[in-house]
Amino acid sequence: MLDFKPVGNSQITLTELMIPSYSNFGGKIHGGHILSLMDKVAYVCAAKHSDGYCITASIDVVNFLAPVEVGELVSLMASVNYVGNTSMIIGIRVVSENLKTHVVKHTNTSYFTMVAIGDDHKPKQVPGLILKSQDDIRRFSQALNRKELKNTYKKDEAMIKNIYDRDSFLQILQHERCKIEL
Ligand SMILES: CC(C)(COP(=O)(O)OP(=O)(O)OC[C@H]1O[C@@H](n2cnc3c(N)ncnc32)[C@H](O)[C@@H]1OP(=O)(O)O)[C@@H](O)C(=O)NCCC(=O)NCCS
Repeated sequence: MLDFKPVGNSQITLTELMIPSYSNFGGKIHGGHILSLMDKVAYVCAAKHSDGYCITASIDVVNFLAPVEVGELVSLMASVNYVGNTSMIIGIRVVSENLKTHVVKHTNTSYFTMVAIGDDHKPKQVPGLILKSQDDIRRFSQALNRKELKNTYKKDEAMIKNIYDRDSFLQILQHERCKIEL
């Protein structure tokens, strides 16, 4: 296994035509189908970088920015943005093209954390990243920032669980759209 690999070695694009069987009750493409494609493209990108089997550890965040219509061509572009020791953050940009008008819309961007798994079924070290462009450096730095923010959030979340105070939460809930029927 190489110690370091360029980002470009594992960048990939997956393109798929959206057929009627992928649609939901509203006639638009099911969000779950897009998610499944994102997981696939993240897997391929991570497996190429790490030369082996990977699993999805987490997804940050999936916002559906625009609906995808039946008949559109969806392209998912994936790139390793950051590597830790055994984990890789794969940035995915999804766009959808109307084949009549050729209008291309950005439908979502998301970050999948994939962990490389060795033959012993344990996380294994992945090659470092060779950053060859300003975009590579920006993506690596932004992923690092996001990771730090997430760690802060995890600590806050643990704190919220520890400081749960029924009476003060009952006061807060008075201003929310919920009814308490104990
Ligand atoms: C992901 C998983 C392998 C991590 O195992 P673990 O025993 O916690 O291993 P470690 O603590 O050594 O963590 C391994 C790496 O994963 C990262 N990681 C673990 N959980 C994570 C999470 N929720 N979000 C982001 N990164 C995570 C760790 O930061 C570490 O990264 P690093 O080596 O680059 O520093 C384990 O939680 C797992 O198997 N989860 C289920 C995955 C799954 O079923 N996915 C869906 C189907 S593919």
